[in-house]
Amino acid sequence: MSKKIAFVTGGTRGIGAEISKSLKEAGYIVIANYNSNDKAAEKFKKETGIEVIKFDVSKFKECEKAVDKILEEHGAVGVLINNAGITKDGFLHKMPEGDWDDVLNTNLKSAFNLTRCLMPSMRDNKYGRIISISSINAQKGQFGQANYCAAKAGLIGFTKAIALEGARRGITANVVAPGYIETDMTAAMPADVLTSIVSQIPLGRMGRPHEIGSLVSYLASEDASYITGAVFSVNGGQY
Ligand code: CAA
Repeated sequence: MSKKIAFVTGGTRGIGAEISKSLKEAGYIVIANYNSNDKAAEKFKKETGIEVIKFDVSKFKECEKAVDKILEEHGAVGVLINNAGITKDGFLHKMPEGDWDDVLNTNLKSAFNLTRCLMPSMRDNKYGRIISISSINAQKGQFGQANYCAAKAGLIGFTKAIALEGARRGITANVVAPGYIETDMTAAMPADVLTSIVSQIPLGRMGRPHEIGSLVSYLASEDASYITGAVFSVNGGQY
């Protein structure tokens, strides 16, 4: 039963929304977290029937409270998707300390927060699938993203460590590293920068959110039980 409950951070928009939908299609009861955009979350809930829960993943206490509530209502969570992420792009020599902290806390500390809160019950149940959404920019670096690249690269090291810790307890941990995907995040980029990046993608186009969702859904499945500590690039051949 616990195997069939999936929790997705940042799960109501962009890549996260497609992950939530893919998991629902695969038969999971999905709970999708969001932080601020009530309107988008309501629309998502109405369209998909997926339960949404609002809290700030960068705050440990909020995560603890939310996880307690979910465990109480649904029993153990079998699948955790660490997807929530923000950008605060800017050259490092001009980057305010707050932009570093915000991106590290939302994109990396969040994974610690949720995994730390769910790992004990996954260990007890001897089952868990933890999938963290990194980025091509963690692998190759990107102008103006020292904070984002550091946080997303941190998810890779984090995953490799917990893959070792979880292995004998039936818990796998993997990373999916998307390239440039059609979401609000990439839509907010300067148009000329985005055009120049897309021109460097061998497949000649940006990725689509469902192209990430389908892989995540596979990694969450029982079929993926021998895959752990791995990083999957989904970037149209860009890197
Ligand atoms: N490659 C080479 N040179 C670059 C460059 C790049 N990618 N980006 C900027 N530069 C150069 C500019 O050409 C310019 O050079 P000159 O001074 O010689 O003209 C110089 O750097 C300064 O550039 P800007 O005037 O654009 O500086 P800025 O401070 O206004 O903005 C920036 C810089 C923040 C990096 C901006 O260009 C930007 O937002 N870039 C997009 C960063 C990006 O790719 N973000 C990804 C968001 S999506 C995401 O993160 C999802 C994911 O996982 C992929």
